[in-house]
Amino acid sequence: MASDDLVPIFSSLEDVYGDGALLDEARYRYERLKSTFRELYGQEPELYARAPGRVNLIGEHIDYEGYSVLPMAIRQDTIVAIHKHDDGQGPPTLKIANIEPTKFKSCCFSTDPLQEVNESQHLWANYFLCGYKGVFEHLVSKGTDIPTQIGLNVLVDGTVPIGAGLSSSAAMVCSSAIAIMMALDLRFSKKEVSEFACTCERHIGTQSGGMDQAISMMAKQGVAMLIDFNPIRGTDVRLPQGGTFVIANSLTESNKAVTAAVNYNNRVVECHLAAMVLAVKLGIPVEEATTTISTLSDIEKLCLSFSASQGSFDPVFAVQVLLHEEPYMREEVEALLKNDLQSLMQKSPSSLAVISAAKQYKLFQRAKHVFSEARRVHLFQEVVESNRSEDEALPELGDLMNESHSSCNLLYECSCPELEELVDVCRKSGALGARLTGAGWGGCVVALVKETSVLSFILSLKEKFFHSRTEKGLIKSDNLGLYVFASKPSSGAAVLKL
Ligand code: GLA
Repeated sequence: MASDDLVPIFSSLEDVYGDGALLDEARYRYERLKSTFRELYGQEPELYARAPGRVNLIGEHIDYEGYSVLPMAIRQDTIVAIHKHDDGQGPPTLKIANIEPTKFKSCCFSTDPLQEVNESQHLWANYFLCGYKGVFEHLVSKGTDIPTQIGLNVLVDGTVPIGAGLSSSAAMVCSSAIAIMMALDLRFSKKEVSEFACTCERHIGTQSGGMDQAISMMAKQGVAMLIDFNPIRGTDVRLPQGGTFVIANSLTESNKAVTAAVNYNNRVVECHLAAMVLAVKLGIPVEEATTTISTLSDIEKLCLSFSASQGSFDPVFAVQVLLHEEPYMREEVEALLKNDLQSLMQKSPSSLAVISAAKQYKLFQRAKHVFSEARRVHLFQEVVESNRSEDEALPELGDLMNESHSSCNLLYECSCPELEELVDVCRKSGALGARLTGAGWGGCVVALVKETSVLSFILSLKEKFFHSRTEKGLIKSDNLGLYVFASKPSSGAAVLKL
C-alpha cells in the first residue's frame, strides 16, 4: 500500500490548518482540548484525530443507489482527543466527553465491540460507538487478530453544525474511528476507513450511502472530488476560477437519524422497490429480481436497452413508460413482486420501520430523480473539465445546480419551505445556481456565486433571509458568520501527534 494511501499522521497544526486565520482558531481549540482533557482525566491526550464535514456540490440521494457524487470538504471539523486508560478499578470502559458538556452530556460505554447501539436513544456519543464497532468489525472482516479491549478516555470538539446537511455525523464517526485505530496501534488506509465508517454508521439506523465518509477521509485541499462507489474511488475535480461556493443555513435542523423511517430511509426503500418493479417489468423473473436487485444502478443497463429499443438514450424514458406517476399502494407493489413487503424487507429492521410508516410509494418520481441526477453529476464534471471560459462554464454549472434542486424538491420531495425560501433569496441575490445540499428536509443551501460578488451576495442574504430571523431571536447577529459563509475545498481526515 502506498504511504499516501494511509491515514496521514502530522506533527504540527500547520500541516492541517495552513498558516492563515484558521490556524489561530485551531491553536485555541487544541489547547482547550488539552487542558480540559487534563482536568477531566488527569492525563494529556496521547493524540488527536480530526475529520472534516462536507458540502455536496451535486449528486443528491444517489450515492446509496451506486452513483457518483461530487462533494468537497469544508473547514469545519470534529476533533477527537484520546488516551488509553486503565484506572485498575473494574472492567475497562470508553469514557466519552464533549467540550460543550451542557449540550452534549458525557457517556460511558463498555469496551465490548459487540454491544448494540441503542437506535431509539439518540445519543451524540453513539457516533463514537459506531466508529468503535466499525474498527473491530473491519478487523474481523480482514481476518486479522483482534487487539485486547482497552479503556479509552475521549474528549470531542466539533464545529460542523449539527443537522445542517454538512455531515457532522460522518465527521464524528471518521475522527472517532481513526483515533481508536491509532490508540490500538493499527494503521488503515483512507479507503478502508471510508468503507467501514459508512457501514458502521448504519448502526445508528440510517441506511446512508458512502459519500460523506469518503470525502471526509479522502479530501484534498483546493479540489472537490468525484466519488465513485463499488469500490470507492476519488478523482480530483478542479473547480473553475472565478466561482465561489457559499453555504447558507436555512436554520431548520434536520436530524436524519431521528426522522429516518419517514424521510431518509423511506427514500432508500422506495428506490429499492422501484428497482425491483422495473426489473420485473423488464423481464427479470420475480424470484431473481427480489433477491438480486437492490439499487437503481443494478438495472440501469436494462433500462437503457429498453430506451434504446424505442429510440431514446435516457434511462428516464424507461421509467416514464414502465412506471405510473400516481403513487403505488402497498397491494400493487406486492402483487407485482409476488411477495409481501414485510418478508422482502425482513433482513433490515430499519426498512421494516419504513414499511410500517409508509402509506404509499412514489416509485416513478424517485427513480426519475435518481437517473436524472446521476446524469447531471457527469454533465457537471464534463463542464468543469472542458476548456470553456469561466463566463461560459459557471452559468452552466449554476443551471445544473438549479435543475438538481428542482428535482430534489419536486421529485424526491426532500426540501422544505425554509430551504425553498433560501434558494429563492440566493437566486434573487445573484447566485448562478443554488440548491439544497446533503439529505435535505432542512439544513443548508449551497450557492455558486461569482468570486467578485461574494461579499455583496452574503450581505444580501443577511438582509433578505437572516435579518428577520435575528429580529425574532432565532439566532444572534454576532454569530451570522456561522450560518452563511464562503467555502473553499479543505483537506481530509488526519491524525495529529503534537
Ligand atoms: C446524507 C447521507 C449521504 C447521502 C446524502 C444525500 O448525507 O449520509 O450518504 O445520501 O444524505 O445525498
